[in-house]
Amino acid sequence: LSTTEVDLSQVAEGQMVTVKWRGKPVFVWNRTPDDIAKAKATELSALLDPVARNANLAADAPATDENRAGEGHEKWLVVIGICTHLGCVPIGHSGEYEGWFCPCHGSEYDTAGRVRRGPAPTNLDIPPYQFVSDTTISIG
Ligand code: FES
Repeated sequence: LSTTEVDLSQVAEGQMVTVKWRGKPVFVWNRTPDDIAKAKATELSALLDPVARNANLAADAPATDENRAGEGHEKWLVVIGICTHLGCVPIGHSGEYEGWFCPCHGSEYDTAGRVRRGPAPTNLDIPPYQFVSDTTISIG
């Protein structure tokens, strides 16, 4: 199967789960209001990669929190769990920016999965997905 369905009702606020999609880890994070506020408070000019990297949007969409989060479901963040440097799996709820820390070479990502400290060159990629109900997404 090329699509993966995720039951979001099983993911508590603040919790991050890892699912598999086409053999890749995908992180699904039910962000807290504080996580969202931090992401929204970040100026685009502070980002290392200003592009959303969201397969559901235009290739040049800016990396605002709105363009990174689930459409109409801003607490949900769905990203491919592969560091954009050399492909390690980053550790969630870690690092100075409170998103992910990559143990291989120290890249850090924020609460919108945007790279904030290199060597990773780009934000964590957002896979194609859609909400098939308020509590279910289909990835792929
Ligand atoms: Fe993540 Fe190098 S693979 S920092």
